Amino acid sequence: MKILPLAVFGTLLVTGSPWAFAAPDWSKVPKRDIQVFHAGTTPIEWIMKKSDHSGRTGINKGESCVGCHEEKGGLNFDFKRLAGKDLEPVGAPKTMHFPVSVQAAYDKDHLYMRLTFKAPADEAAAAPREDKEPKHEVKAAIMLAGDKVPQAAQVGCWATCHTDVRSMPGADEKKKKYVTDANVAGGVFYDYIQWKSGEGGKGSTQIDGHVAAERVNKGGTALVKAEGENKGGVYTVTFTRKLSGGEGDLALAEGQVIPFGVAIHTDKTVYRFHHVSLGYTMGLGVAGDIKASKQ
Ligand code: HEC
Repeated sequence: MKILPLAVFGTLLVTGSPWAFAAPDWSKVPKRDIQVFHAGTTPIEWIMKKSDHSGRTGINKGESCVGCHEEKGGLNFDFKRLAGKDLEPVGAPKTMHFPVSVQAAYDKDHLYMRLTFKAPADEAAAAPREDKEPKHEVKAAIMLAGDKVPQAAQVGCWATCHTDVRSMPGADEKKKKYVTDANVAGGVFYDYIQWKSGEGGKGSTQIDGHVAAERVNKGGTALVKAEGENKGGVYTVTFTRKLSGGEGDLALAEGQVIPFGVAIHTDKTVYRFHHVSLGYTMGLGVAGDIKASKQ
């Protein structure tokens, strides 16, 4: 066997790595703050029922959640109502909303997304928590909408949030979130990636799945890695994703505008006991609520 000189070997290690990508210089990537909030029991059926939500009329005319509810970088919700017994029968967290700083960049093969936020840990004691180990302190997920999800650019993740999904009042405990008339091949699904912290700073994991007729926690091959860091309660979670992928992975390309939403579970909670964003759009090199910058 011929022994390679060390310098050559070192070069090969860098350029020949299966992860041949250069992480962006995040200090140069613009930040967009979005608010995540505790939405109580306001699934899409609630949103689209006029007697519950007068915003339905606007949605049917093409308006978006963000268009009506984002104001001066904050959300104009009545948080007392959202924390009240009618919309939150189990128990609302003390911190009803908090900001998440979103950054995105891409190169010819990869999309990079980074979320930075201070995670509160004050969910109501009655909120359900993970019954398996590890009990993840924090989980951060992004859902990217397929191009044929009806009204995805308006409603964000609400198309997966239904009144009969587990942890909604009276719902089947096994029923997971889903998209009505889902069709993975036809683009009616959400691509789903998640980072889970593990417990006590150990055992972090990632999920590359999708949400179609139900939530599936596997099958994706686009997510290269999800990494998280906790510095005094401030989490920085970075996703590196190939532009293309496998089952349940959207094929992304420069020029596309992709609707997406963010969900953060804190304080070891599960199911609907998360803080979610409204629906935003990400433009790959083109305008969007967030413009992913080219590397
Ligand atoms: C055309 C404007 C409009 C649009 C679009 C809209 N809403 Fe609303 N929404 C309202 C108004 C007005 C209220 C206040 C209560 C009411 O009149 O129903 C409200 C109330 C709410 C509430 C209850 C908290 C509160 O402040 O009363 C939630 C949660 C909510 N909207 C979520 C959404 C989501 C999620 C979407 C997108 C899927 C959305 N809204 C789209 C106008 C809108």
